[in-house]
Amino acid sequence: MCGIVGYTGDSNATIPLLEGLARLEYRGYDSAGISILADGKITTAKRAGKLAVLVAALKEKSLPNGQVGIGHTRWATHGSPIDRNAHPHLDPDGKVALIHNGIIENYHSLKVALENQGHDFSSDTDSEVVAHLLGAEYSRVNDLTAAMEKVCKQLQGNFSLVAIAVDSPGTLVGARRNSPLVVGLGDGANFLASDVAAFISFTRRALEIGQNQIVTLTASSYSITNFDGEAQNAREFEVTWDASAAEKNGFPHFMAKEIMEQPKALADCLLGRIDEKGQLALNEVRVSDDELRDIEKIIIIGCGSAFHAGMIAKYGIEHWSRIPVEVELASEFRYRDPIITRNTLVLAISQSGETMDTLMALRHAKEQRAKVISICNTHGASIPRESDGVVYTQAGPEIAVASTKAFLTQIVAAYLVGLYLAQVRGIKFVDEVRDILEELDEMPTKIERYLETSERLKELAEEFQSAQSILFLGRHVGYPVALEGALKLKELAYMHAEGFAAGELKHGPIALIEEGTPVLVVMPSPHSPLHDKMLSNVQEIQARGARAIIIASESDLAIADPRAIRIPDAPVLFQPLLAVLPLQLFAYESAVIRGYDVDQPRNLAKSVTVE
Ligand code: F6R
Repeated sequence: MCGIVGYTGDSNATIPLLEGLARLEYRGYDSAGISILADGKITTAKRAGKLAVLVAALKEKSLPNGQVGIGHTRWATHGSPIDRNAHPHLDPDGKVALIHNGIIENYHSLKVALENQGHDFSSDTDSEVVAHLLGAEYSRVNDLTAAMEKVCKQLQGNFSLVAIAVDSPGTLVGARRNSPLVVGLGDGANFLASDVAAFISFTRRALEIGQNQIVTLTASSYSITNFDGEAQNAREFEVTWDASAAEKNGFPHFMAKEIMEQPKALADCLLGRIDEKGQLALNEVRVSDDELRDIEKIIIIGCGSAFHAGMIAKYGIEHWSRIPVEVELASEFRYRDPIITRNTLVLAISQSGETMDTLMALRHAKEQRAKVISICNTHGASIPRESDGVVYTQAGPEIAVASTKAFLTQIVAAYLVGLYLAQVRGIKFVDEVRDILEELDEMPTKIERYLETSERLKELAEEFQSAQSILFLGRHVGYPVALEGALKLKELAYMHAEGFAAGELKHGPIALIEEGTPVLVVMPSPHSPLHDKMLSNVQEIQARGARAIIIASESDLAIADPRAIRIPDAPVLFQPLLAVLPLQLFAYESAVIRGYDVDQPRNLAKSVTVE
């Protein structure tokens, strides 16, 4: 939801800013802009459309060579994606330029007050109001940091802001509340950005900026205060991956690369989970074993694919730990007045760690004194920071908007929590847990084996490219896999797709089946008691003309169809880690055939930092 980057150093700022924006484009891509401070003047270029449009405009007419600047890539909230709504925004005198990620909830009343003082606005955004407020304060106090403090106190909502001002050469001032902002500490240059990816090719040293904090940055120094001007400490950390992890490395799309990275992502997710006594250890869980023994109920919250990962994890966690698990969309959770006690464990699943719906649900759970453990892929993000403990998925950066390797590792990380609870509560012996972990350890090889032979999905995508609607069926752990397959197809290929629990079909959805309707069926493992019931469901839809494509285990001899997609055999609870692969590839190939932008589907953004 908007990527922001600021640079102060000794080079021409446009270059690192454009590189940063390219790495942040996954966060929003409907317009982009840069402001540079040079020769006592701020010069701005901004364009609707993807970053490439801005880059082309800068080739025609470059920005001045200045050593400080800010850049923004937008996902529109207030105001349509047109040139004048793109960031940066300036105050009326052009003395202050500002970029913003988030939503200013009280922007309307602030705007009206400014209009009454004679301000004219050139955009429809909430962000321009902040630029005007900052400009007005700056002209009063003549100190950008002090002006930022005053402005932040007037704002309601979520924001990360970065500003430059003509009379503060070499200085960036950033502020954050509920939206991400990190500092990159380079050699002779420093950065402010939504995400470390923006500066990863320049430095791996980073600083977390906390809630309600302001950072003042020059090329060689930083200071952090709160909105009252009191000095604050910050935690420095080293980013554990390098620039090559955030590049396509010869793949046509990030999504293709991330699908192929899944064996490694899963292996990395499982790394370092066994302690010297041979027990499962989750180092950053930080909820005591005594507290975990008292847990009476688990509620898993997440959005989109993270929610589907939670739906799958429920089966494993309940099976191993015998604790009841509810799974809820984070956006619905706090509005139904859920029953939460100090013996409730909330598992918040989020790749980005910044999804606002999940963050707000987490806060609600904490207010009710639940214990919160998050499952997250992004170190230092708001969700893990505000949780009691965290299990990092260790999947490496996921750049494509559609979640693939994060989804797989979320399932496994949540399974690890279930196994850990079983171990701590004495429901499973240490050696039983280890046996299960050994089976999990075999999954990366099985995933790799499937991915080596996955060519067929392209043909299938071609065959179904003009289908009006595609249905996905699953049962038990295969049901959330069906939902995930449908979500992927909707978001990437813009095709109508629905996932159903196959047992539910006869209660209504079977009416959708007509001659030729494509249905992708996730067949339960042959060891599952549901296998034969699913066979009957397939016969029911085929009798009504459906073109069923069955995803079945290699050893499933009951499926004679030569068109069946075969996946390696796996224990029932681990089968989703394989069954989802053909569905990811099917959605990917369908989008490629249709000529759509696979990594940046329309209307979406990777990190949804608004409710
Ligand atoms: C779908 C997808 C989204 C995310 C959802 C949650 O492919 O990527 O549905 O899963 O927006 O995002 P995180 O995990 O960052 O909270």
